[in-house]
Amino acid sequence: MVLAHRAVRDQILRNTAMSSSDAVVLFDVGAGQAKGGREFQEDRVTIVLPEQFPAETKEKLAFFAIYDGHGSGLVSEHASKQLHHLLTKRPEFQKGDYAAAIKAALADEDALLLESFRNDSTEPAISGSTAAVCLVNLTQGELVVSNLGDSHVILAERDPKTDRPYHIRRLTEAHKPGVPSERRRIEEAGGEVTMRSGIARLGETIMTEEEGVGSLNMSRALGDLQYKNPVNEVKDSSCMPRVRRLSSSSNAVRGDFLSNDPYTSRRTLQPDRRYLLVVMSDGVSDRTDDVALVQHVIKLAMRGMRASEIAKEVTTNSTRSVKSDNASCIVAMLDGQRA
Ligand SMILES: *[C@@H]1O[C@H](CO)[C@@H](O)[C@H](O)[C@H]1NC(C)=O
Ligand SMILES: *[C@@H]1O[C@H](CO)[C@@H](O)[C@H](O)[C@H]1NC(C)=O
Ligand SMILES: *[C@@H]1O[C@H](CO)[C@@H](O)[C@H](O)[C@H]1NC(C)=O
Ligand SMILES: *[C@@H]1O[C@H](CO)[C@@H](O)[C@H](O)[C@H]1NC(C)=O
Ligand SMILES: *[C@@H]1O[C@H](CO)[C@@H](O)[C@H](O)[C@H]1NC(C)=O
Repeated sequence: MVLAHRAVRDQILRNTAMSSSDAVVLFDVGAGQAKGGREFQEDRVTIVLPEQFPAETKEKLAFFAIYDGHGSGLVSEHASKQLHHLLTKRPEFQKGDYAAAIKAALADEDALLLESFRNDSTEPAISGSTAAVCLVNLTQGELVVSNLGDSHVILAERDPKTDRPYHIRRLTEAHKPGVPSERRRIEEAGGEVTMRSGIARLGETIMTEEEGVGSLNMSRALGDLQYKNPVNEVKDSSCMPRVRRLSSSSNAVRGDFLSNDPYTSRRTLQPDRRYLLVVMSDGVSDRTDDVALVQHVIKLAMRGMRASEIAKEVTTNSTRSVKSDNASCIVAMLDGQRA
């Protein structure tokens, strides 16, 4: 199967113009989603291939992202359609500063949600989403990964001879309100962390008549504007029909209890190595450990399965038990030019 992989890759290389100057080749990428015991699937997946990339660039770029929605699918849906466009419009992106560009694009996405909240809808106040975002400059072999909340990205290297995975690294960090540094940040912003059902949650919430009391178990996410400035400053409910403050302990200026400032890491992909990238929602990461997951993916790849089939198998596997969460996964194979 290693040979089959080689043959297909050589074919791709022959068919792809310019590829000889690229550090890494996107050999295969695909996504899978499964619903588990849940009624709705609020995860969204975005894959932008180099030939679809929404910006004229000399270099080849690819973008992969998973957005795991909560409250409703509004924010995950909106972000999955907008974020990559917002990203390529950023001046930081034009300068090649991907980390700053992704961070700014996430803030721009929240600004759009705020505009729609102000226009006519309370939904962006009570709907939110995680984000796990990967931007790859294939020409330069540059990978930048950013995340908000509990969606994750794993990068593994593969031995070119045996195909065995090694150097399995998680490039993301879960953003939980109970972590001391996050608790400090939340309290400095004027918010509070409460324990409910044994899980640390964001306190100081607004209540909506439809949804009941908000109780978010993440400290960073898109949307959920009720936990962010300026929506969390509103003291007069008349300007926000159907929304009222549950408690208003202080009149001090409030910051963002829930932050949209992501955790970011970067890696240089070497032309003489082969890589496997897995992007996943907590419906996958909570069911397995990273090493077992990567070994499972490589095993399926060596049987000749395509990335999309592997991603589907991973999510089906994760949602096999009755009480399971919905699950989403992207599998991408990135091969160094000389690997
Ligand atoms: C889907 O799963 C995610 C976690 O992976 C969860 O946050 C979200 O609420 C789920 N959606 C529904 C409708 O249950
Ligand atoms: C590709 O990555 C390099 C290295 O980070 C960066 O300098 C360059 O601007 C990137 N190209 C594009 C088109 O973003
Ligand atoms: C908000 O309303 C203005 C004026 O009607 C409109 O131009 C804009 O696109 C709306 N923005 C959003 C995010 O809905
Ligand atoms: C956090 O909340 C989401 C959305 O409600 C849910 O899917 C997830 O299971 C929760 N995680 C924990 C650890 O409670
Ligand atoms: C499910 O995935 C795990 C690794 O994530 C693997 O060890 C296990 O064999 C898989 N089970 C099935 C039935 O595919």
